[in-house]
Amino acid sequence: MIERIDAIRAEAEAAIAAATTTAALEELRVRHLGRKAELPNLLRGVAELPPAERGAVGKAANVARQALEAQITARGAELELAELRERLARDRVDVTLPGTPPQPVGRLHLLTATRREIEDVFLGLGFRVAEGPEVETVFHNFDALNHDPAHPARARTDTFYVPGPGRGPDEVLLRTHTSPVQVRAMREQPPPIAIIMPGRVYRRDSDATHTPQFHQIEGLAVDEDITLADLKGTLLAFAKAIFGEEREVRLRPHFFPFTEPSVEVDVSCFQCAGTGALDGAARCNLCKGTGWLEILGSGMVDPNVFAYVREYGYDPERVQGFAFGMGVERIAMLRHGVPDLRLFYDNDLRFLRQFG
Ligand code: DAH
Repeated sequence: MIERIDAIRAEAEAAIAAATTTAALEELRVRHLGRKAELPNLLRGVAELPPAERGAVGKAANVARQALEAQITARGAELELAELRERLARDRVDVTLPGTPPQPVGRLHLLTATRREIEDVFLGLGFRVAEGPEVETVFHNFDALNHDPAHPARARTDTFYVPGPGRGPDEVLLRTHTSPVQVRAMREQPPPIAIIMPGRVYRRDSDATHTPQFHQIEGLAVDEDITLADLKGTLLAFAKAIFGEEREVRLRPHFFPFTEPSVEVDVSCFQCAGTGALDGAARCNLCKGTGWLEILGSGMVDPNVFAYVREYGYDPERVQGFAFGMGVERIAMLRHGVPDLRLFYDNDLRFLRQFG
């Protein structure tokens, strides 16, 4: 009897090892361990054996059954994995193949491409990207940025106010610049902070160089030892990355309510290499013969602005920082020689296709 059990086991083991599919393995399981199989039958008959044989035969049959079960489980796992791999390999789709029929892939709008490029430059310098709402309060857009109560930008003729009850810091408007995000970001994160804040802004303006809605990228860096030299170095790196390695920047004194000192920043003209002249004689039309192009407003954050976020870790006696704000349209126009701002919004493919 024991020999028979060994023979069944040997035959089944060989078959299990040789099985090549989970279906074949299942057949083997039924054949060797199923209700009508010889081994289970034998086990069921143990009780009728002479008492002297029962122990040895029962044990041998049990051991054989357990061994076969374990082998089937192990082989089953192997085969399932192999079949899964094969199925995955067979089903693989190359999602990069063109569709049938091939569809045009399109391109990024020049303003999107420009924004992303500028973001990349600042990300490379260690800045993060932050965002804020386009529908803002007077508090964030003006008050906390140290705007005089009589500042002209507050006028109803200059700014889109959202109808609502009363006037005051809680009155709602379409933000006129991305600078309010500075205030929101400082309330969310203590110094050191280094962020850029891209987004749409709105002004009541409309002509060849102004649209009621346009895009800005704001920058802010605050820590305990930031100087105007850091500002200049940062903007020089930006100017070189966007306008060419040869570029220089210069700072001109200016006024903004939320920076002190404030500067306007020029980049040396990339068309005439800063000479103001083309081909020796003619005046460079891009920089109007000056050799410089104005690209953004900037300055050292005014301590009065920090006073509004003092309780968030910005003690004006301890921290300093610089801020800047640029127009995305302006950067794209300068760089690509786009003559009219409105071209960005006409969505004429003959214009858009020239880029990217
Ligand atoms: N918010 C200004 C504007 O829209 C631009 C600006 C100037 C932003 C100086 C700044 C800055 O952060 O420091 O005209």
